[in-house]
Amino acid sequence: MSRRTLAPFGRRALEVTGRRELGAYVVLEVADPGGPAPRPGQFFMLAATEGWGGGEDERPFLPRAFSVLRARPGRLEFMLEDVGPGTARLCALSPGDAIWATGPLGLGFAAPEDDRRALLCGGGVGTAPLAIWQDELLAAARPAPALLGFRDAAHAAGAALLANPRVATDDGSVGHQGLVTDLLVAALDEDEHATVYACGPPPMLEAVRALCAERGVPAQLALEAGMACGFGACFGCVVPTRDGGYVRICVDGPVLDAAALAEVPAH
Ligand code: FES
Repeated sequence: MSRRTLAPFGRRALEVTGRRELGAYVVLEVADPGGPAPRPGQFFMLAATEGWGGGEDERPFLPRAFSVLRARPGRLEFMLEDVGPGTARLCALSPGDAIWATGPLGLGFAAPEDDRRALLCGGGVGTAPLAIWQDELLAAARPAPALLGFRDAAHAAGAALLANPRVATDDGSVGHQGLVTDLLVAALDEDEHATVYACGPPPMLEAVRALCAERGVPAQLALEAGMACGFGACFGCVVPTRDGGYVRICVDGPVLDAAALAEVPAH
């Protein structure tokens, strides 16, 4: 199956149909009756239709990129964390409100090759694209164990979005005390015949990349980046590749083959 579903032209107004809090996160459900089904790993640019650009210093003013958490016919879910003016505004939305959405955008995950098992590894809000990917893998009767890392118990509530995850927290309040990459090392020690699918903050992704490179394990990394346009026009999201070129995360990613990168940029 193609890794890319093309977005309809332009942004569309979608109605918020649900909002639930999950520890430190908010899961927002929107109706997208005419929208195409996104591929796991693809993202949308979201903005509130009201109160956007009118705050202090006119922030927030650009739409924000969010991976799809889950998709069902005519419905989309996104996992949000209030970390700034844009996410605060989106987290404050209620059913009946509207958002501007452009998407699905970018390139999603590709299925494992060579009968490798999928091994999902997420950090924080990077859990989101792994949920829709796990849904698809499990529906195809492929095992998809998940390893998730969070800061503390409030954030670890997000682990409920995946089936049977192993959890690590920085403070040890839930699961293993330490980094999710500790769990990844243990899982690869058990069985290296895997393809690793990872999403999370840059230092975590860099650790996953280096670990997989050292062991010769293929990995697909869903990069997080500040995206101004989301569709290839502004070149604000470029990252250097191992061969000396550059790719745009929004159109050539956000899912990139780890082997293409010498390192994951710090931001
Ligand atoms: Fe504009 Fe990628 S966000 S080119």
